[in-house]
Amino acid sequence: MMQDNYTAFFKTNEQTWDLKVPIHAASEFYEVTSFKQGKTSLNPIELRELGEVSGKTLLHLQCHFGLDTMSWSRLGAKCTGIDLSSKGIEKANDIKKDLNLPVTFVKSNVYDVPENVPGEFDIVFTSYGVIGWLPDLDLWAKVIVDKLKPGGVFYMVEFHPIMWMFDYTLEKPELKYGYNQKEVIYEEYKGTYADTASSMLSKEYGWNHGLGDVISALISAGLTIEFLHEFDEAPYDVFPGMLKNEKGQYEIPEGKRLHPLLYSIRAVKQ
Ligand SMILES: C[S@@+](CC[C@H](N)C(=O)[O-])C[C@H]1O[C@@H](n2cnc3c(N)ncnc32)[C@H](O)[C@@H]1O
Repeated sequence: MMQDNYTAFFKTNEQTWDLKVPIHAASEFYEVTSFKQGKTSLNPIELRELGEVSGKTLLHLQCHFGLDTMSWSRLGAKCTGIDLSSKGIEKANDIKKDLNLPVTFVKSNVYDVPENVPGEFDIVFTSYGVIGWLPDLDLWAKVIVDKLKPGGVFYMVEFHPIMWMFDYTLEKPELKYGYNQKEVIYEEYKGTYADTASSMLSKEYGWNHGLGDVISALISAGLTIEFLHEFDEAPYDVFPGMLKNEKGQYEIPEGKRLHPLLYSIRAVKQ
């Protein structure tokens, strides 16, 4: 159970994510119609780096409205997805019912997973825009380790911490936040990354975590790191100035490229 002093922050974030769900589910960004027709929502990086999932149990942390969870299920994994947003879980369950997929969705804060999700898993997965919502990485890593079977794999792919140092609510993004910022960051802006023209008001509390803190939290909790990779391209066009390359990925054009856009970590519980 997470400390009470974060409750108000989590509540605001939950309300914002509840508002985002119907907008995202109707957006071109998430392509729900194509997803329902069989298109995977997973990207080449995680498909390649996590590898074979068939027959394995997989816990997806912060699953939003479940497209990635259901994509892993289509590849044969036995999946459970959790998310803070009840609207996200409702939407995930609606889509799952339409597609008749054997996936379990649970409304839960990451920190409450030990109380809300029984059992241990072969794989714990989380991706793209997740740890910035979490104030305490040591507790996050402990939840992951406790939910893994011995020999189980943790895999994450996430935007690079340098990306979160900028304030994107300004017309010209400015370097504003700490690489590791323990003090909460509050941002309020119109729209959402999946529909910037939407009139919804996003109110968000977040925390910045550098690579050292992420890796150290996972090691301290008992995981053995297999790799940490950094990438100059990302599957999503969610930051200013990105261009699509010949592989269909987005990158900052050469000459302006100063830092990676993504990183991934694969770790094992011995
Ligand atoms: C950017 S989305 C994840 C994106 C995901 N890869 C996708 O595109 O479907 C972040 C998700 O984290 C969830 N979230 C935020 N804080 C959380 C928390 N403390 N516990 C569980 N889920 C949380 C939000 O509800 C949201 O669905």
